[in-house]
Amino acid sequence: MDKKCRIAIFASGEGSNAEAIVRYFSNHSTMEVMMVISNNEKAGVHRRMQKWNIPCFTIEKSEWQPDSTGYVALELMRSKGIDMIVLAGFLAYIPANIVTEFKGRIVNIHPSLLPKYGGKGMWGHHVHEAVIAARETMSGITIHHVTEKLDDGSIIFQAECEVLPADTPDSLTARIHRLEYEHYPRIVEQLGMKLQ
Ligand code: GAR
Repeated sequence: MDKKCRIAIFASGEGSNAEAIVRYFSNHSTMEVMMVISNNEKAGVHRRMQKWNIPCFTIEKSEWQPDSTGYVALELMRSKGIDMIVLAGFLAYIPANIVTEFKGRIVNIHPSLLPKYGGKGMWGHHVHEAVIAARETMSGITIHHVTEKLDDGSIIFQAECEVLPADTPDSLTARIHRLEYEHYPRIVEQLGMKLQ
């Protein structure tokens, strides 16, 4: 690849992982974040991106259904020559055309040690509530390739942390977020380097 590896981040929520990635790649010699795509115009990620001058787009809900073509997002990404998609708290279905066009070039982060606590309904604080309710002593993060099935692609990286007896979903969220910020940008960088 004779240009920088161009990243699109997909995010639905607060966007703290998106911001950690944007921070990591600001002034990077071989990779750059070109845009954030969201399915929610009210998501906190839009506010966070303003200060980094990263273009943020909202694509409406009907584009993120199992039978959606994915063309709106695909056209947007093609127009900017996107090489890689990074899901950072993106809570919608990824249409098959996007998965196909970016095969091997879409990654997701999940806030548990998959295959535990993955699948439908398992996202964000729901994961941490379930982990605490099951009295797990360890939890962690999983970074994995994205396929058409939810939380199903091959695992690239996992990191563990303790679940303490006094943990609440909020305190566990904070510990998991710290792990995510530490590892996700670095793993994205390694994958991007392989594409070059
Ligand atoms: C992160 O913890 C991420 O792992 C999780 O949502 C959170 C988003 O936080 N993703 C999932 O649960 C996907 N199934 P953020 O918006 O502050 O980055």
